[in-house]
Amino acid sequence: MANTFLDKIVVSIDIGTTKICVLVAKQISHDEVQILAIGKAPSHGLKRGVVVDIAKTIQSIKEAVKEAEFISGHKIESAVVGISGSHILSFNSNGAVPIKKGDVREFDIANVIAAAKAIQIPEGQQILHVLPQYYSIDSQEKIQNPLGMYGIRLEAQVHIITGSVASVQNIVRCCEMTGIKVTDIILEQLASADAVLNKDEKELGVAVLDIGGGTSDFAVYYHDSIRHTMVIPIAGNLFTNDIAIGLQTTINEAERIKQNYGLAFSKLLMEDDEIEMEMVHGEQKFTTKKSLLLKIIEPRAEELLNIVYDEIKKYNLKSFMTTGLVLTGGGSLLIGMKELAQEILKMPVRIGLPKTQNILPGSLESPIYSTGYGLLIHTIKKQDRTIENLNGPLAAKILLRMKSWISDFF
Ligand SMILES: Nc1ncnc2c1ncn2[C@@H]1O[C@H](COP(=O)(O)OP(=O)(O)OP(=O)(O)O)[C@@H](O)[C@H]1O
Ligand SMILES: [Mg+2]
Repeated sequence: MANTFLDKIVVSIDIGTTKICVLVAKQISHDEVQILAIGKAPSHGLKRGVVVDIAKTIQSIKEAVKEAEFISGHKIESAVVGISGSHILSFNSNGAVPIKKGDVREFDIANVIAAAKAIQIPEGQQILHVLPQYYSIDSQEKIQNPLGMYGIRLEAQVHIITGSVASVQNIVRCCEMTGIKVTDIILEQLASADAVLNKDEKELGVAVLDIGGGTSDFAVYYHDSIRHTMVIPIAGNLFTNDIAIGLQTTINEAERIKQNYGLAFSKLLMEDDEIEMEMVHGEQKFTTKKSLLLKIIEPRAEELLNIVYDEIKKYNLKSFMTTGLVLTGGGSLLIGMKELAQEILKMPVRIGLPKTQNILPGSLESPIYSTGYGLLIHTIKKQDRTIENLNGPLAAKILLRMKSWISDFF
Protein backbone atom coordinates (compact mmCIF):
# COMPACT_ATOMS: atom_id res chain seq x y z
CA MET A 1 0.00 0.00 0.00
CA ALA A 2 1.31 3.43 -0.89
CA ASN A 3 2.30 5.46 2.09
CA THR A 4 0.10 8.55 1.93
CA PHE A 5 1.60 9.88 5.14
CA LEU A 6 5.16 10.09 3.85
CA ASP A 7 6.89 13.37 4.59
CA LYS A 8 4.27 14.52 7.07
CA ILE A 9 6.25 15.82 10.02
CA VAL A 10 4.69 16.00 13.48
CA VAL A 11 6.34 17.80 16.39
CA SER A 12 5.47 17.64 20.08
CA ILE A 13 6.75 19.65 23.03
CA ASP A 14 6.32 18.19 26.50
CA ILE A 15 6.80 21.14 28.84
CA GLY A 16 7.45 19.21 32.03
CA THR A 17 8.41 20.41 35.51
CA THR A 18 11.82 18.71 35.30
CA LYS A 19 12.52 18.57 31.55
CA ILE A 20 11.38 20.00 28.26
CA CYS A 21 11.29 17.37 25.57
CA VAL A 22 10.85 18.08 21.87
CA LEU A 23 10.13 15.16 19.54
CA VAL A 24 10.28 15.41 15.77
CA ALA A 25 8.61 12.52 13.97
CA LYS A 26 7.51 11.39 10.56
CA GLN A 27 4.02 9.94 10.31
CA ILE A 28 4.22 6.48 8.75
CA SER A 29 0.64 5.23 9.10
CA HIS A 30 -2.67 6.39 10.52
CA ASP A 31 -1.50 5.59 14.06
CA GLU A 32 2.29 5.25 13.92
CA VAL A 33 5.20 7.65 13.76
CA GLN A 34 8.90 7.28 13.23
CA ILE A 35 10.95 9.43 15.59
CA LEU A 36 13.55 11.51 13.77
CA ALA A 37 14.93 13.43 16.73
CA ILE A 38 14.69 14.05 20.44
CA GLY A 39 15.71 17.40 21.89
CA LYS A 40 15.84 17.67 25.65
CA ALA A 41 16.69 20.38 28.17
CA PRO A 42 16.30 20.70 31.94
CA SER A 43 13.22 22.73 32.86
CA HIS A 44 13.61 25.52 35.45
CA GLY A 45 10.58 27.72 34.87
CA LEU A 46 7.75 25.47 36.08
CA LYS A 47 6.29 24.59 39.47
CA ARG A 48 3.83 21.72 39.81
CA GLY A 49 3.25 21.62 36.06
CA VAL A 50 2.58 25.36 35.69
CA VAL A 51 4.81 28.01 34.11
CA VAL A 52 5.99 30.38 36.85
CA ASP A 53 8.97 31.90 35.02
CA ILE A 54 8.42 32.69 31.35
CA ALA A 55 12.04 33.69 30.59
CA LYS A 56 13.48 30.46 32.03
CA THR A 57 10.85 28.35 30.29
CA ILE A 58 11.57 30.02 26.94
CA GLN A 59 15.28 29.41 27.46
CA SER A 60 14.70 25.69 28.08
CA ILE A 61 12.32 25.34 25.13
CA LYS A 62 14.87 27.06 22.89
CA GLU A 63 17.60 24.66 23.97
CA ALA A 64 15.46 21.57 23.39
CA VAL A 65 14.16 22.88 20.05
CA LYS A 66 17.67 23.69 18.88
CA GLU A 67 18.85 20.17 19.62
CA ALA A 68 15.83 18.57 17.92
CA GLU A 69 16.27 20.80 14.86
CA PHE A 70 19.95 20.01 14.64
CA ILE A 71 19.43 16.23 14.83
CA SER A 72 16.41 16.10 12.50
CA GLY A 73 17.57 18.76 10.04
CA HIS A 74 14.00 20.08 10.20
CA LYS A 75 13.09 23.68 11.07
CA ILE A 76 10.38 23.54 13.73
CA GLU A 77 7.63 26.06 13.08
CA SER A 78 4.67 24.53 14.87
CA ALA A 79 4.03 21.91 17.52
CA VAL A 80 1.44 20.28 19.71
CA VAL A 81 2.02 20.83 23.43
CA GLY A 82 0.87 19.23 26.66
CA ILE A 83 -0.76 20.87 29.68
CA SER A 84 -1.14 19.89 33.32
CA GLY A 85 -1.31 21.51 36.77
CA SER A 86 -3.77 21.97 39.62
CA HIS A 87 -5.74 24.52 37.58
CA ILE A 88 -7.11 21.67 35.43
CA LEU A 89 -10.73 20.87 36.24
CA SER A 90 -12.88 18.11 34.82
CA PHE A 91 -16.49 17.07 35.06
CA ASN A 92 -19.18 15.11 33.22
CA SER A 93 -22.04 16.77 31.39
CA ASN A 94 -24.83 15.78 29.02
CA GLY A 95 -26.97 17.27 26.31
CA ALA A 96 -29.93 16.20 24.16
CA VAL A 97 -31.26 17.25 20.74
CA PRO A 98 -34.01 16.05 18.38
CA ILE A 99 -32.69 13.94 15.48
CA LYS A 100 -33.55 16.11 12.50
CA LYS A 101 -33.89 13.69 9.59
CA GLY A 102 -34.69 10.35 11.17
CA ASP A 103 -31.16 8.97 11.13
CA VAL A 104 -28.24 10.46 13.01
CA ARG A 105 -26.06 12.64 10.78
CA GLU A 106 -22.82 14.42 11.54
CA PHE A 107 -24.60 17.68 12.31
CA ASP A 108 -26.81 15.93 14.91
CA ILE A 109 -23.66 14.75 16.65
CA ALA A 110 -22.15 18.22 16.41
CA ASN A 111 -25.35 19.71 17.85
CA VAL A 112 -25.65 17.27 20.73
CA ILE A 113 -22.01 17.82 21.67
CA ALA A 114 -22.59 21.57 21.52
CA ALA A 115 -25.62 21.13 23.81
CA ALA A 116 -23.58 19.07 26.29
CA LYS A 117 -20.85 21.69 26.20
CA ALA A 118 -23.20 24.65 26.71
CA ILE A 119 -22.79 24.85 30.45
CA GLN A 120 -21.42 27.43 32.80
CA ILE A 121 -17.72 26.90 33.27
CA PRO A 122 -15.86 28.39 36.23
CA GLU A 123 -14.59 31.94 35.75
CA GLY A 124 -11.09 32.21 34.37
CA GLN A 125 -11.28 28.71 32.88
CA GLN A 126 -11.45 27.65 29.24
CA ILE A 127 -12.49 24.38 27.69
CA LEU A 128 -9.58 22.20 26.57
CA HIS A 129 -11.39 18.98 25.67
CA VAL A 130 -14.95 17.78 25.21
CA LEU A 131 -14.68 14.00 25.16
CA PRO A 132 -17.80 11.99 24.32
CA GLN A 133 -18.29 9.01 26.65
CA TYR A 134 -21.39 7.51 25.06
CA TYR A 135 -24.63 8.39 23.33
CA SER A 136 -28.25 7.38 23.86
CA ILE A 137 -30.97 7.28 21.20
CA ASP A 138 -34.50 7.31 22.61
CA SER A 139 -34.37 4.55 25.23
CA GLN A 140 -31.27 2.77 23.89
CA GLU A 141 -28.25 3.64 26.00
CA LYS A 142 -24.44 3.32 25.81
CA ILE A 143 -24.04 3.73 22.06
CA GLN A 144 -20.42 4.33 21.05
CA ASN A 145 -20.98 5.71 17.55
CA PRO A 146 -24.55 6.78 16.75
CA LEU A 147 -23.83 7.79 13.14
CA GLY A 148 -26.56 6.41 10.80
CA MET A 149 -28.80 5.08 13.58
CA TYR A 150 -32.53 5.85 13.59
CA GLY A 151 -34.41 7.60 16.37
CA ILE A 152 -36.11 10.76 17.59
CA ARG A 153 -33.92 12.02 20.37
CA LEU A 154 -30.12 11.92 20.62
CA GLU A 155 -28.37 12.36 23.93
CA ALA A 156 -24.63 12.61 24.63
CA GLN A 157 -22.72 12.06 27.84
CA VAL A 158 -19.38 13.90 27.73
CA HIS A 159 -16.32 14.51 29.88
CA ILE A 160 -15.28 18.16 29.85
CA ILE A 161 -11.77 19.27 30.74
CA THR A 162 -10.99 22.91 31.42
CA GLY A 163 -7.82 24.78 32.28
CA SER A 164 -7.07 28.27 33.54
CA VAL A 165 -6.93 30.79 30.69
CA ALA A 166 -3.79 32.32 32.18
CA SER A 167 -1.92 28.99 32.35
CA VAL A 168 -2.90 28.12 28.79
CA GLN A 169 -1.84 31.56 27.58
CA ASN A 170 1.51 31.30 29.34
CA ILE A 171 2.31 28.02 27.60
CA VAL A 172 1.27 29.41 24.22
CA ARG A 173 3.29 32.55 24.86
CA CYS A 174 6.44 30.62 25.79
CA CYS A 175 6.23 28.64 22.55
CA GLU A 176 5.41 31.66 20.41
CA MET A 177 8.31 33.59 21.84
CA THR A 178 10.51 30.69 20.76
CA GLY A 179 9.07 31.15 17.25
CA ILE A 180 6.77 28.11 17.44
CA LYS A 181 3.06 28.16 16.71
CA VAL A 182 1.00 25.96 19.03
CA THR A 183 -1.39 23.88 16.93
CA ASP A 184 -3.07 22.05 19.81
CA ILE A 185 -2.94 21.81 23.60
CA ILE A 186 -3.60 18.39 25.04
CA LEU A 187 -4.07 17.31 28.64
CA GLU A 188 -0.90 15.40 29.50
CA GLN A 189 -2.54 12.24 30.83
CA LEU A 190 -4.57 11.85 27.63
CA ALA A 191 -1.28 11.91 25.73
CA SER A 192 0.47 9.52 28.13
CA ALA A 193 -2.50 7.15 27.91
CA ASP A 194 -2.15 7.05 24.12
CA ALA A 195 1.52 6.18 24.50
CA VAL A 196 1.26 3.38 27.06
CA LEU A 197 -2.20 1.82 26.98
CA ASN A 198 -3.21 -0.78 24.46
CA LYS A 199 -6.55 -0.94 22.68
CA ASP A 200 -7.86 -3.86 24.76
CA GLU A 201 -7.04 -2.14 28.05
CA LYS A 202 -8.88 1.00 26.96
CA GLU A 203 -11.85 -1.05 25.82
CA LEU A 204 -12.07 -3.32 28.89
CA GLY A 205 -11.27 -0.53 31.34
CA VAL A 206 -8.02 0.79 32.77
CA ALA A 207 -6.48 3.79 34.51
CA VAL A 208 -3.19 5.54 33.90
CA LEU A 209 -1.22 7.50 36.52
CA ASP A 210 1.64 9.58 35.11
CA ILE A 211 3.86 10.41 38.08
CA GLY A 212 6.00 13.30 36.83
CA GLY A 213 8.20 15.74 38.66
CA GLY A 214 5.53 18.29 39.57
CA THR A 215 2.18 16.56 39.16
CA SER A 216 0.71 13.07 39.02
CA ASP A 217 -1.87 12.92 36.27
CA PHE A 218 -4.67 10.35 36.47
CA ALA A 219 -7.13 9.21 33.79
CA VAL A 220 -9.64 6.37 33.62
CA TYR A 221 -10.75 4.73 30.34
CA TYR A 222 -13.66 2.39 29.74
CA HIS A 223 -15.20 1.27 26.45
CA ASP A 224 -12.52 3.23 24.65
CA SER A 225 -13.62 6.55 26.09
CA ILE A 226 -12.50 8.70 28.98
CA ARG A 227 -14.43 8.38 32.24
CA HIS A 228 -12.49 10.45 34.70
CA THR A 229 -9.43 12.69 34.97
CA MET A 230 -7.60 14.25 37.89
CA VAL A 231 -4.34 16.15 38.47
CA ILE A 232 -2.62 15.58 41.85
CA PRO A 233 0.07 18.03 42.99
CA ILE A 234 2.24 15.30 44.54
CA ALA A 235 5.01 13.85 42.38
CA GLY A 236 8.72 13.02 42.13
CA ASN A 237 10.12 16.43 43.09
CA LEU A 238 8.27 16.36 46.40
CA PHE A 239 9.90 12.99 47.17
CA THR A 240 13.29 14.54 46.42
CA ASN A 241 12.56 17.59 48.61
CA ASP A 242 11.48 15.34 51.47
CA ILE A 243 14.80 13.46 51.19
CA ALA A 244 16.83 16.69 51.05
CA ILE A 245 15.11 18.01 54.17
CA GLY A 246 15.02 14.70 56.01
CA LEU A 247 18.67 13.86 55.39
CA GLN A 248 20.03 17.42 55.42
CA THR A 249 21.48 17.15 51.96
CA THR A 250 21.31 19.10 48.68
CA ILE A 251 18.51 18.67 46.14
CA ASN A 252 20.98 17.21 43.62
CA GLU A 253 22.33 14.73 46.13
CA ALA A 254 18.80 13.83 47.27
CA GLU A 255 17.87 13.18 43.64
CA ARG A 256 20.92 10.95 43.15
CA ILE A 257 20.18 8.98 46.30
CA LYS A 258 16.50 8.60 45.39
CA GLN A 259 17.30 7.29 41.92
CA ASN A 260 20.04 4.92 43.10
CA TYR A 261 18.75 3.63 46.43
CA GLY A 262 15.16 4.89 46.80
CA LEU A 263 12.47 2.42 47.78
CA ALA A 264 8.74 3.07 48.18
CA PHE A 265 7.60 -0.22 49.69
CA SER A 266 9.00 -1.60 52.97
CA LYS A 267 8.25 -5.23 52.09
CA LEU A 268 10.92 -4.98 49.38
CA LEU A 269 13.73 -3.99 51.78
CA MET A 270 16.15 -6.95 51.82
CA GLU A 271 19.53 -5.63 53.00
CA ASP A 272 19.67 -2.44 55.03
CA ASP A 273 22.66 -1.06 53.07
CA GLU A 274 24.58 1.99 54.16
CA ILE A 275 24.50 4.93 51.77
CA GLU A 276 27.27 7.48 51.57
CA MET A 277 26.15 11.00 50.78
CA GLU A 278 27.21 14.63 50.89
CA MET A 279 25.78 16.93 53.50
CA VAL A 280 24.17 20.22 52.64
CA HIS A 281 27.01 22.15 54.29
CA GLY A 282 30.53 21.75 52.99
CA GLU A 283 32.44 18.78 51.67
CA GLN A 284 31.74 16.49 54.56
CA LYS A 285 30.48 12.98 53.75
CA PHE A 286 27.81 11.30 55.77
CA THR A 287 26.35 7.83 55.89
CA THR A 288 22.72 6.94 56.18
CA LYS A 289 20.73 3.72 55.85
CA LYS A 290 18.41 2.53 53.15
CA SER A 291 15.72 1.94 55.81
CA LEU A 292 15.86 5.63 56.80
CA LEU A 293 15.44 6.63 53.16
CA LEU A 294 12.46 4.27 52.97
CA LYS A 295 10.91 5.93 56.03
CA ILE A 296 10.99 9.25 54.16
CA ILE A 297 9.78 8.01 50.78
CA GLU A 298 7.11 5.46 51.70
CA PRO A 299 4.71 7.83 53.53
CA ARG A 300 4.78 10.29 50.60
CA ALA A 301 4.16 7.48 48.11
CA GLU A 302 1.30 6.24 50.32
CA GLU A 303 -0.13 9.75 50.49
CA LEU A 304 -0.19 9.96 46.69
CA LEU A 305 -1.71 6.51 46.21
CA ASN A 306 -4.28 7.09 48.95
CA ILE A 307 -5.49 10.19 47.09
CA VAL A 308 -5.92 7.98 44.01
CA TYR A 309 -7.69 5.36 46.17
CA ASP A 310 -10.08 7.98 47.61
CA GLU A 311 -10.86 9.33 44.16
CA ILE A 312 -11.62 5.82 42.85
CA LYS A 313 -13.95 5.27 45.80
CA LYS A 314 -15.61 8.69 45.64
CA TYR A 315 -16.51 8.36 41.95
CA ASN A 316 -17.08 4.57 41.88
CA LEU A 317 -14.30 4.11 39.34
CA LYS A 318 -13.19 0.61 40.33
CA SER A 319 -15.78 -1.09 38.12
CA PHE A 320 -14.26 0.75 35.14
CA MET A 321 -10.70 -0.31 35.99
CA THR A 322 -11.12 -3.92 34.88
CA THR A 323 -7.51 -4.38 33.78
CA GLY A 324 -6.03 -2.32 36.63
CA LEU A 325 -3.66 0.62 36.71
CA VAL A 326 -0.72 1.57 34.48
CA LEU A 327 1.97 3.72 36.10
CA THR A 328 4.15 5.91 33.92
CA GLY A 329 6.20 9.15 34.12
CA GLY A 330 9.64 9.36 35.74
CA GLY A 331 8.17 8.78 39.21
CA SER A 332 7.10 5.28 38.19
CA LEU A 333 10.80 4.35 38.05
CA LEU A 334 10.99 4.51 41.83
CA ILE A 335 11.52 0.94 43.03
CA GLY A 336 8.50 -0.38 44.95
CA MET A 337 6.01 2.13 43.54
CA LYS A 338 4.29 -0.57 41.50
CA GLU A 339 4.11 -3.02 44.43
CA LEU A 340 2.85 -0.34 46.84
CA ALA A 341 0.16 0.68 44.34
CA GLN A 342 -0.86 -2.97 44.01
CA GLU A 343 -1.17 -3.27 47.80
CA ILE A 344 -3.10 -0.01 48.35
CA LEU A 345 -5.40 -0.19 45.33
CA LYS A 346 -5.80 -3.99 45.35
CA MET A 347 -5.63 -4.37 41.60
CA PRO A 348 -3.05 -5.33 38.96
CA VAL A 349 -0.47 -2.59 38.33
CA ARG A 350 2.13 -2.41 35.57
CA ILE A 351 4.69 0.15 34.44
CA GLY A 352 3.94 1.62 31.01
CA LEU A 353 6.62 2.65 28.53
CA PRO A 354 5.93 4.31 25.19
CA LYS A 355 5.01 1.58 22.70
CA THR A 356 7.20 2.98 19.99
CA GLN A 357 7.81 1.32 16.68
CA ASN A 358 10.36 1.92 13.98
CA ILE A 359 12.57 4.08 16.12
CA LEU A 360 16.20 4.05 17.06
CA PRO A 361 16.41 1.20 19.59
CA GLY A 362 16.22 2.25 23.19
CA SER A 363 15.91 5.96 22.55
CA LEU A 364 12.39 6.46 23.90
CA GLU A 365 12.09 3.43 26.12
CA SER A 366 11.56 5.27 29.38
CA PRO A 367 8.34 6.34 31.10
CA ILE A 368 9.65 9.92 31.13
CA TYR A 369 8.87 10.08 27.38
CA SER A 370 5.27 8.86 27.60
CA THR A 371 3.73 12.33 27.37
CA GLY A 372 5.94 13.55 24.51
CA TYR A 373 5.41 10.41 22.44
CA GLY A 374 1.71 10.30 23.34
CA LEU A 375 1.24 13.88 22.13
CA LEU A 376 2.37 12.71 18.68
CA ILE A 377 0.09 9.66 18.68
CA HIS A 378 -2.88 11.62 20.02
CA THR A 379 -2.41 14.21 17.28
CA ILE A 380 -2.23 11.80 14.35
CA LYS A 381 -5.18 9.77 15.65
CA LYS A 382 -7.21 12.94 15.98
CA GLN A 383 -6.44 13.94 12.40
CA ASP A 384 -7.34 10.46 11.24
CA ARG A 385 -10.71 10.56 13.01
CA THR A 386 -11.41 14.01 11.63
CA ILE A 387 -10.60 13.02 8.06
CA GLU A 388 -12.44 9.70 8.25
CA ASN A 389 -15.64 11.03 9.73
CA LEU A 390 -15.83 14.47 8.37
CA ASN A 391 -15.24 14.95 4.71
CA GLY A 392 -17.25 17.15 2.37
CA PRO A 393 -18.47 20.72 2.67
CA LEU A 394 -20.61 20.11 5.77
CA ALA A 395 -17.59 18.72 7.52
CA ALA A 396 -15.66 21.86 6.71
CA LYS A 397 -18.43 23.97 8.22
CA ILE A 398 -18.65 21.91 11.38
CA LEU A 399 -14.90 21.86 11.61
CA LEU A 400 -14.83 25.62 11.47
CA ARG A 401 -17.61 26.00 13.99
CA MET A 402 -16.11 23.71 16.56
CA LYS A 403 -12.52 24.26 15.71
CA SER A 404 -11.11 23.92 19.19
CA TRP A 405 -12.66 20.60 20.13
CA ILE A 406 -14.03 18.89 17.03
CA SER A 407 -11.29 16.32 16.92
CA ASP A 408 -12.22 14.81 20.27
CA PHE A 409 -15.52 13.82 18.69
CA PHE A 410 -15.50 10.11 18.03
N1 LIG B 1 15.19 6.07 38.50
C1 LIG B 1 14.35 6.89 39.11
N2 LIG B 1 13.87 6.59 40.34
C2 LIG B 1 13.02 7.41 40.98
N3 LIG B 1 12.55 8.55 40.47
C3 LIG B 1 12.97 8.90 39.24
C4 LIG B 1 13.89 8.11 38.49
N4 LIG B 1 14.12 8.71 37.31
C5 LIG B 1 13.40 9.86 37.31
N5 LIG B 1 12.72 9.98 38.46
C6 LIG B 1 11.85 11.08 38.88
O1 LIG B 1 10.91 11.37 37.87
C7 LIG B 1 10.55 12.75 37.93
C8 LIG B 1 10.56 13.31 36.54
O2 LIG B 1 9.64 12.60 35.77
P1 LIG B 1 9.11 13.18 34.38
O3 LIG B 1 10.24 13.41 33.47
O4 LIG B 1 8.03 12.27 33.93
O5 LIG B 1 8.52 14.59 34.89
P2 LIG B 1 8.13 15.89 34.08
O6 LIG B 1 7.39 15.51 32.86
O7 LIG B 1 9.31 16.77 33.88
O8 LIG B 1 7.17 16.63 35.14
P3 LIG B 1 5.59 16.91 35.13
O9 LIG B 1 4.95 15.99 34.15
O10 LIG B 1 5.14 16.68 36.52
O11 LIG B 1 5.46 18.36 34.77
C9 LIG B 1 11.55 13.43 38.82
O12 LIG B 1 10.96 13.79 40.05
C10 LIG B 1 12.62 12.35 39.03
O13 LIG B 1 13.17 12.41 40.32
MG1 LIG C 1 5.39 14.99 32.51
